[in-house]
Amino acid sequence: MIEKKFTIAVLPGDGIGPEVVAEAVKVLKAVGSIHNITFELKYADMGAVAIDKHSVPLPKDTMQICMEADAVLLGAIGDPKYDDPSLTVRPEQGLLSLRKALGLFCNVRPVRAYDALLELSPLKREYVSGADLVIYRELTGGIYFGEQGRKHNNTYAYDVCGYHIHEIERIVKLAFEAARLRRSKVTLVDKANVLESSRLWREVFNTMKKEYTDVNTDYVLVDNAAMQMIQNPSSFDVIVTSNIFGDIISDEASVICGSLGMLPSASLGEEHGLFEPVHGSYPSAAGKNIANPLAAILSAALMLRHLGVEAGALQIEEAVAHCMEESFLTEDLCIDKSKACSCSEVGEAVATALRVPVQ
Ligand code: IPM
Ligand code: MN
Repeated sequence: MIEKKFTIAVLPGDGIGPEVVAEAVKVLKAVGSIHNITFELKYADMGAVAIDKHSVPLPKDTMQICMEADAVLLGAIGDPKYDDPSLTVRPEQGLLSLRKALGLFCNVRPVRAYDALLELSPLKREYVSGADLVIYRELTGGIYFGEQGRKHNNTYAYDVCGYHIHEIERIVKLAFEAARLRRSKVTLVDKANVLESSRLWREVFNTMKKEYTDVNTDYVLVDNAAMQMIQNPSSFDVIVTSNIFGDIISDEASVICGSLGMLPSASLGEEHGLFEPVHGSYPSAAGKNIANPLAAILSAALMLRHLGVEAGALQIEEAVAHCMEESFLTEDLCIDKSKACSCSEVGEAVATALRVPVQ
C-alpha cells in the first residue's frame, strides 16, 4: 500500500471543542493505520483560548499553520465570558476572519434522519423519517461581511447585505454539482419578495440552471422554508442559500436528526478546506466528558472525503451508524440518561468499529 501523508491543522478551540476533537483525532488515527496514512497534526489556538493566551482570537501563527495545512479540523468557538456584545475582541471574530482569509465561501451542512434516532426528534416520526438533505450556505459574503456601524449619536445601527454575482455563481455551481450526485434537485432559499440581494441570487440561479437541465430546481422563500423544514423535510435535497439564511435554517434542520450534536460541516474554498461540527462550544458541558463527539467525527469523515480518502470517509460513516444501532450514545441521544456513554467511550466505540472488516 502506498503511504500517504497529510498535514492537518487542529484547532480544538473552546468549551467542548478539545474533547470532541480528541475523539475525532482518535478515529482519524485509526483510519490512518488501516489505510497507511500518516496525519501530521499541528495544534493551534483559536477563539477564547487564543484571546486568553495571546490577546487575539486568531493569532498569526494559527493563521500560518492553517494556510500551510492540507486541511483544518476545528472543534468549537465561544465562551460566555466574552458574550458581552460591547466587547471589541470576541472569539467568533477568529472564526469569521479565518473563513475569509482561507476563502472558504462554501459551507456544506448535510442533515439526515438516522433511523436509530428517530424517537429523539421532537418532530413526528412520519415527517422526519427518510429526510436526507444538504445545505450549501454561502460563507464569506452577505450581511456577515457587509459594512456595519452606528450613526446619529449611536441611535441607529446598520448591517449591509450585499452580494457580487461571482460570489453567488461559485456556490450555486457547487450546489448544482452536488445535486447531480444526489437526487438531482436544488432549492434556492431566499427572500426575493423583499430583498434586492435575493433578487440577484434568483437571476444568477435562473441563468445557471440552464446549464444543468438534468437537475430539478425550485425556490422557497426563507420564512416558508423554515416551515417546510419541519413539516416536510424530505421535500429538500440540496438547498443553496446566503450566509445568514443558511446559518439559521441549518440550526433548525438539526432538529430533524434529533441533536445538534450529530451535524458535521465542511467549509470549502478554491484552495483550503475546514471541517467542524455545527454545534457550538456548549460551555456548561466542558470538561465533563459528556459531549457528543459524533459531529466532530463525521466532520473528520468529510475531511477525508475532501482529501480523496473516500474509503476512509465511508468507513467512519458506517462505524458511526453501527455505534448508534448498538446504542453507544452520549446523553443528548439517550432517552434513558442512565445508559449514556461518555464522549471518550463513543469515540473509542467508533474507532473500534472501524477496525472490524466490512462484511
Ligand atoms: C456557525 C456559527 C457562526 C456563524 C458563529 C459562531 C460566528 O453560528 O458556524 O453557524 O454564525 O457562522
Ligand atoms: Mn450558526
